[in-house]
Amino acid sequence: MDKFVIRGGAPLLGTVRISGAKNAALPCMAAALLTEDPVILENIPQVRDIETTRKLLAAMGAEVELGYGRAQHRTTIHCKNLASPEASYELVKTMRASTLVLGPLIARCGRARVSLPGGCAIGSRPIDLHIKGLESLGAKIVQDHGYVEATADRLKGAEIVFDKITVTGTEDLLMAATLAEGETLLQNCAREPEVADLAALLNKMGARIEGAGTATIRVKGVSKLKGAKHRIIPDRIEAGTFIIAGAMTSGDLNVTGCEPSHLGALLSKLHEVGVKTKHSADSVRVMGDHPLAAADIITEEYPGFPTDVQAQFMALATQAEGTSVITENIFENRFMHAQELLRMGANIKLEGRRAVIRGKSPLSAAAVLASDLRASASLVLAALVADGETIIDRVYHIDRGYENIEEKLRGVGAEIKRIGEIFPRRRGANG
Ligand code: UD1
Repeated sequence: MDKFVIRGGAPLLGTVRISGAKNAALPCMAAALLTEDPVILENIPQVRDIETTRKLLAAMGAEVELGYGRAQHRTTIHCKNLASPEASYELVKTMRASTLVLGPLIARCGRARVSLPGGCAIGSRPIDLHIKGLESLGAKIVQDHGYVEATADRLKGAEIVFDKITVTGTEDLLMAATLAEGETLLQNCAREPEVADLAALLNKMGARIEGAGTATIRVKGVSKLKGAKHRIIPDRIEAGTFIIAGAMTSGDLNVTGCEPSHLGALLSKLHEVGVKTKHSADSVRVMGDHPLAAADIITEEYPGFPTDVQAQFMALATQAEGTSVITENIFENRFMHAQELLRMGANIKLEGRRAVIRGKSPLSAAAVLASDLRASASLVLAALVADGETIIDRVYHIDRGYENIEEKLRGVGAEIKRIGEIFPRRRGANG
C-alpha cells in the first residue's frame, strides 16, 4: 500500500490546474449505457474510480477506450451489446457510485442485477430512494443474496418526490426517465452542478430534460438515445482542496481550469475566515498571507457548503484563531479525520454531528491513517503545515478521487513523495 511522506512548512506558490470532476464523469460514463452508439467524454480525470467504472462497464460487454496524456483524458464508451447487465459486489464494494448503472440498465435492457453497496466508512448510505423511484417508473425490484434484481418492460413516466435530497439518486432516476414512456416529474432533486452536467450530456444524446440544476426536473421520455461528445466540468472539490491548501500554507496559488461559480459557499466562508481571493472566469487566485479567524460551517446540499470539503475545512480551522464549529448534516459518521488531526496536535472535540475546533494549534508530524477519500485530503493539508515529516498511510483512498495530487502539490513547492510498501525480505526456502 502506498504512503505519502510530506514535510510541512513550504508555502504553495505558483499555478495548479484542476482536473475534470470525478463526480460528473461517473454518471456520464453510466449514461453511455443508454445508447448503442459511442459516447465520447473529454476531461476525464485519471483517478481510481474512473478505472473502476471502466471495469464495471467492460464486464457488461461495453467497449471502453480510456486515454490520458496526449489522448487528452478522453474516453470513448460503446455499449453496442450489453451481454451481461450486472454489477458485481467485487466492483460495487470499492465504489458506491456503481449503483449509477442501475437506472440506465433497467431503461435500456429491461433488467439489471446490481450488488447492494453495503456499509461505508462515512455512514450507512442506503439506496432506498433509487429503488423507490425506479419502482415508481414501473420497475419490479427484488433484493436477493445482497443483490438488487430489477426487471421492467418499458418504464413509464411518473411524478416522483424524493423524500431526501440525493445526488446519485437524482442522477439514476434522471437517466432512467430519459427512455421512459411519457413524462416524468422529479421533485426535491439535488441541484449539484454534476447533475446539470449529466443532463447536458443526456440532452446532447437526444433526451428532453428541463430544469436540471434546480429542485424540479421535467423529462419527456424518448424511445432511443444516440451517441454524443461532451466535456466534463471541472472538479469543484479538487479546486476547493487546493484553494484551502494555498490559504493554510500562507501561499500565493493560482488555481486554474476551475469554475468559480461552483465554489460560492466555500469562497464566501473563506472570506469570513480572512482569506483573500481574486477570481477570473476560470481561475481562483488565493493569497494566504493573512491571519485566519475561526468560522462555523454547516454542510448542506448544493449550493450550501459541500460535505466533500468539510474535512479539508477542519484542517484549515485548526490553523485559525478562535473556536470553529463544524456541523455535518449530510452523513452521520464523517469525522474520522478528526482522530488523526488530534494525533497531529489539533484541539478538536466531537459531539455527535458537531465538531468544535479550537485554534490555532501548531501541528506536528505523525504517522496517520487515511480513512476515506476526503479525510485523506484533510490529512495532506494538515501535513503541509505540520512541523516535520508526516507519513500518511492508505493513500489509495486519495487516489480514488484526486488526479496526481502529489505531482500537482510538488509543482507548487510542497515537499511530498509517494513511497510503496516496503516488505521485509523473507529468509526461507530460497535463502
Ligand atoms: C454524492 C457524491 C459524494 C457526496 C454526496 C453528498 C457522487 C459520486 N458522490 O454521493 O461525493 O459526498 O453526494 O454531496 O456524486 N440517502 C438515503 N437514501 C438513498 C440515497 C441517499 O437515505 O437512497 C441519504 C444518504 O445516506 C445521505 C444523503 O441521503 O445521508 C445524501 O446522500 P447522496 O446525495 O445520495 O450521496 P451520494 O449520491 O451517494
